[in-house]
Amino acid sequence: MAQQRGGALWFTGLSGSGKSTIARSLAQKLRGGGARFELLDGDVVRQNLTKGLGFSKEDRDENIRRIGFVAHLLARNGVLVLVSAISPYRETREAVRDRIGANFIEVYVNAPLEVCEQRDVKGLYKRARAGQIKGFTGIDDPYEPPLESEIECRTDLESLDESVAKVLGYLRGNGYLH
Ligand code: PPS
Repeated sequence: MAQQRGGALWFTGLSGSGKSTIARSLAQKLRGGGARFELLDGDVVRQNLTKGLGFSKEDRDENIRRIGFVAHLLARNGVLVLVSAISPYRETREAVRDRIGANFIEVYVNAPLEVCEQRDVKGLYKRARAGQIKGFTGIDDPYEPPLESEIECRTDLESLDESVAKVLGYLRGNGYLH
């Protein structure tokens, strides 16, 4: 039986940058196409696998470490894993890359803070600015952008379809999809 190339598509970016939107839209396109994939969405993961963790550096790192562990298990069994998590620390993302190896695909979902803040889909930026949430990424907590991601989606400049097409193109071009 032909073995599919597994991998971890790691969507990183600010809250509201579009990580989950792209990952979900991609998942919809993959559905029914025969590829084995799994979606590990930040919010869902935090209600299950990493329930109880907060947003200190230690907790965020633990969150990413656990997601990275599961992604590694799946990827090495031929599953394409779609991870969306802010994953704000470069070193922590690089540790996941080291674990997963060549099949780690970092997708930098890039939109300027002002744009994410204007979108404010969940109303969290407003609360962070009002001091009701402390340690909010981009406001009073760091986000370290990738230096050399495999893919970059500028969601303020390109449409959702364009971002998804870019990711699909990478997957096809690198043997993850046929
Ligand atoms: S991390 O840093 O990777 O562990 O974060 P993640 O697991 O992706 O969770 C981010 C979502 O949690 C909500 N939220 C916060 N985000 C950033 N900073 C703080 N302090 C915070 N508190 C709650 C927020 O809805 C994030 O969702 P997204 O989808 O990124 O908007």
